[in-house]
Amino acid sequence: MVMEPPAAAVDILSNASTVAVLTGAGMSAESGVPTFRDAMTGLWSRYDPTELATPEAFSRHPARVFGWYLWRWRAARGALPHAGHRALVDGAATWSTTVVTQNVDGLHQRAGSTDVIELHGSLHAFHCSAAQHPFDVRGLEALPEAEEVEPPCCERCGARVRPAVVWFGELLPAAALERAGQAAAAAEVLIVVGTSAVVYPAAQLPHLARAAGARLIEINPNPTPLSALADVTWCASAGAALPTLFRAATRARTD
Ligand code: OAD
Repeated sequence: MVMEPPAAAVDILSNASTVAVLTGAGMSAESGVPTFRDAMTGLWSRYDPTELATPEAFSRHPARVFGWYLWRWRAARGALPHAGHRALVDGAATWSTTVVTQNVDGLHQRAGSTDVIELHGSLHAFHCSAAQHPFDVRGLEALPEAEEVEPPCCERCGARVRPAVVWFGELLPAAALERAGQAAAAAEVLIVVGTSAVVYPAAQLPHLARAAGARLIEINPNPTPLSALADVTWCASAGAALPTLFRAATRARTD
């Protein structure tokens, strides 16, 4: 079945030249990376975030938290970008595109997107928990595939090594947040893909873009708190919708 994009979305995108794209875990779902809040498959339906994604959890149970992130690191390394990621790369030849992502899996960069702002850090970098001394991830390869894995210690200061992701209760990287705000404010169109839009400050960006005059296109199989604000909400998956939308908008520009 060929899926037609909503005419309003094609119209909005084809008449714009500056695009920001805000992505969440749903963007990676078709690459096999689980989301957080989907009822049956989301990570937070199986795991308690306060036991795995907070600095306190890491202090209390370092091996459990580290083992979980090691598992996610291996999964992210094995995941491949899909047609939706590639559509954003191809689209950047026509539209000035900034991707702002809450994802830590690096799939946008792996697909070839060059202007990517990682709001919640990256699973592909690890550093010590005391002074952020970088840790060479090649040192993770030999670690066991187990539920609990003792984190390695920093060679410089001896502190435990942790993933360079943002945990609940921690601040987002200031430079990334500032650049994301600028991109949202400068965009003529903000395409919001695969986020439940409930985690702030990322969820503030569509409101900021809207206030600065951007049009909003949401792509998500499920409604979110943003749906009422969006000009167009397209109930579809990222991997199917983005290529179709960008192809149709490219055609409309050349017609
Ligand atoms: P969520 O798991 O909260 O939301 C995923 C969204 O993706 C849902 O709205 C789904 O309907 C949608 N979705 C599922 N499959 C999709 C598909 N194939 N295509 C498009 N959309 C799809 O993930 P986020 O909104 O990214 O933070 O969560 C935000 C933050 O909460 C994460 O970055 C993480 C998490 O706790 C930290 O770890 C700090």
